[in-house]
Amino acid sequence: MTKLFLDLKFIFWLSLALISGLIVLSSNFFNNTRADVHGVLTFYHDLLTEPPADNHISICVAEACQAVGSRQLEKDVKAKFGKEVHDGYCFGNCALGPNAMVNGAIIGRASVEKIAKART
Ligand code: FES
Repeated sequence: MTKLFLDLKFIFWLSLALISGLIVLSSNFFNNTRADVHGVLTFYHDLLTEPPADNHISICVAEACQAVGSRQLEKDVKAKFGKEVHDGYCFGNCALGPNAMVNGAIIGRASVEKIAKART
């Protein structure tokens, strides 16, 4: 399952890279500067300009999870795993906050230790 997720992740990234390349090429056609294109590519978190990390960790920072400490968890996890960590917004598991998602699997009552165990 993890292998399938990684393959899908690579295909997804490749698609985004192709789209990003097309946007850059079309900027001349639409008379936009490279700075305009760069601004768009870096504004949206789902548009990537480099391959994603081996693991994808999202920490829910929506209200219910914030109320039970997700911001501190986010800081601790970012300090440990760096660029693998991204913000997430409500995974629909609010009662078990703080929540994290590691490679597509939701982890309730998340801690740094649980997240480290769930990484590949
Ligand atoms: S607020 Fe975090 S899962 Fe809903």
